[in-house]
Amino acid sequence: MEILVAGGAGYIGSHTCVALLKEGHRVVVADNLCNSKAETIHKIEQITNKKVVFYQIDVTKEEDIRPVFSKHQFDGVIHFAGLKAVGESVKEPLKYYYNNVLSTIMLARMCQEYKVNRFVFSSSATVYGENEIPFVETMNLLPTTNPYGETKVISERILMDMQKANPEFCVSLLRYFNPIGAHDSGLIGEMPNGIPNNLMPYITQVAKGKLNKLKVFGKDYPTVDGTGVRDYIHVMDLAEGHVLALEKLTKGVQIYNLGTGQGTSVLQLIRAFEEANHIQVPFEISERRPGDIAEFYADASKAERELEFTARRGILDMCRDAWRFEKNLG
Ligand SMILES: NC(=O)c1ccc[n+]([C@@H]2O[C@H](COP(=O)([O-])OP(=O)(O)OC[C@H]3O[C@@H](n4cnc5c(N)ncnc54)[C@H](O)[C@@H]3O)[C@@H](O)[C@H]2O)c1
Repeated sequence: MEILVAGGAGYIGSHTCVALLKEGHRVVVADNLCNSKAETIHKIEQITNKKVVFYQIDVTKEEDIRPVFSKHQFDGVIHFAGLKAVGESVKEPLKYYYNNVLSTIMLARMCQEYKVNRFVFSSSATVYGENEIPFVETMNLLPTTNPYGETKVISERILMDMQKANPEFCVSLLRYFNPIGAHDSGLIGEMPNGIPNNLMPYITQVAKGKLNKLKVFGKDYPTVDGTGVRDYIHVMDLAEGHVLALEKLTKGVQIYNLGTGQGTSVLQLIRAFEEANHIQVPFEISERRPGDIAEFYADASKAERELEFTARRGILDMCRDAWRFEKNLG
């Protein structure tokens, strides 16, 4: 298939391009590089030994995206082109609603006009809000605590309504848990701007000496050791999940959790990183961060049943691959 990967120069998008190319699909990337670099496209080509067609464009702009749809005959679209910093979304809600919702509308509209009937969307476990764990796809969604989360809920709703009105249009809503790690070549991985918001890039930067100490937010949660528990999934497993979701998408709206079903606490992740890489990660406990949930992980059984998707890589692989990438950054 020829697939448009919107946001394909980013962290999850670039790994998904690798997985798509490995399975023999053709890849066209549309990315405005607002949170990524053009060199990532070359790295994808280097890993796979295949060509990637790249357009540096903003997918919210019709004048940018229309020529791409008229030039290519896509079999499907995967939409990663979103802003993702939760804290920033609280401070700049309009920027988030504008970019994340309009990108969904614009890509869906192009699909309708150019008769592209497969659409895979990057959603997030954040749409579950503070539901009971494990999170299951059939749960009623509870309010999220920030505009970022709302853009995911709204985008899901838009795509479901679009599917209802156009039965030949098929949508897969993929609710990611916590992707970490990197491709095992060490060539692509997560490259946050400034001080990382997420735990793993923070750990790798402390291990490297770029940052002094890791701050662990809260040690009094009702969890195994008092620190927050998340469901970490290797980014290459997540990427392979996209290929399966795309290939098996033949009707309606399909919703899948992409996680491992296993919870890991902050302290467990630090220990795993130290064990995998034989390096110390100094940390200190600080106050809870407002808006953080104590614990969540996926019920991963639907993706396993219907997509035959299971995460193959463990926590130690995630830690090793994340560290290899960070070291290669120089
Ligand atoms: N990383 C996570 O933990 C996580 C978890 C759940 C969901 N998601 C979602 O997955 C998607 C990808 O996340 P990521 O971690 O790879 O983020 P990322 O920032 O690395 O990748 C997003 C890419 O989209 C591009 N982009 C953003 N707006 C664009 C626009 N208007 N036009 C063209 N390109 C645009 C950016 O330049 C970037 O390359 C996002 O939608 C994010 O919300 C991420």
